[in-house]
Amino acid sequence: MTILGIETSCDETSAAVVVDGQRILSNVVSSQIELHRPYGGVVPELASRSHLQLVDVVIADALRQAGKSFEEIDAVAAAYGPGLATSLLIGLNAGKGVAFRLGKPFVGINHVEAHLYSPLMDHGVAETLPMVSLIVSGGHTILVHVTGIGQHRILGQTLDDAAGECFDKAAKLLKLGYPGGPEVDRLARQGNRKAIAFPRSMLDQPGYDFSFSGLKTSVLYYLKRTATVCVADVCASFQEAVVDVLVGKTVRAARDTGVRVVSASGGVSVNSRLRERLAEECQRRGWRLYLAPGNLCTDNGAMIAALAYHKLQAGKAGDLGLEIGPSIGLGVTT
Ligand code: KG4
Ligand code: ZN
Repeated sequence: MTILGIETSCDETSAAVVVDGQRILSNVVSSQIELHRPYGGVVPELASRSHLQLVDVVIADALRQAGKSFEEIDAVAAAYGPGLATSLLIGLNAGKGVAFRLGKPFVGINHVEAHLYSPLMDHGVAETLPMVSLIVSGGHTILVHVTGIGQHRILGQTLDDAAGECFDKAAKLLKLGYPGGPEVDRLARQGNRKAIAFPRSMLDQPGYDFSFSGLKTSVLYYLKRTATVCVADVCASFQEAVVDVLVGKTVRAARDTGVRVVSASGGVSVNSRLRERLAEECQRRGWRLYLAPGNLCTDNGAMIAALAYHKLQAGKAGDLGLEIGPSIGLGVTT
């Protein structure tokens, strides 16, 4: 089954053609980073205007790279939430329009749920479950217990800032570029992880919730009271604090739920130190770890098409009346 997946929930215009939820024939991502960089964050009006200008081109490109015509597509999927309302509208309506024109099924996909399954794309999903999955992006920090496709229970999530947001805000305080995560990751390699003792918020508390706003404030106070700042040391120490909490809670969640499989997804799961630490912890315990390649961690259409395949297999086709859901949650299904 060949599915066209469309993703425009934030600042990436993406379309992909994926066969049977696994074989990626194309995955075109047009990033708006340059557009938003002067503002240090995503400007919704600019994002939606850019999605509108590009969505047709990106879809055509995805089909061309896949060597498929519109008629060879069996179903169309698009992210309908969560995300920026005016951005979601563009991809969702484009997807519904193509599906309507072709007379093919349309599937609306929850963007966060798509992140959840993105590390499993290269594997049979059944063999990887049950698992504990960490979703860490610019908008989300969620720990999930997954027992089947569409069967998941949220164990914990951030009470304030998302991990990626925290990376971006810390980078802004350090006057680094936007988005901050990749810059902090790069500079941290030259710094000392133990130079500054930033707080590990909520690590010692029971449960699996996170809080990152205090860490951002600690970076601010450190910078205010320090005359000569070594940016690499701040990056390394800050990153270690975030990673300690993410890894600590993920390992605890896996241990408590008794699973032996862990995965991580979302933009922050590109982070080299997070990947390294998760690999160490899982290897030590004999657990399997699934991480997506970088281009499938950040927002992309392939993860939308892949999850749509599994939804269709489970008999869950959407309808063309589906509206955007800018603030939908991941849902509790078990
Ligand atoms: O999943 P994503 O592309 O978009 C959302 O759905 O939010 O994630 C973007 C976030 C940004 O906050 C960015 O700074 C962060 O992922 N990020 C990183 C790295 N690469 C991207 N954070 C830490 N280390 C990285 N290498
Ligand atoms: Zn995302």
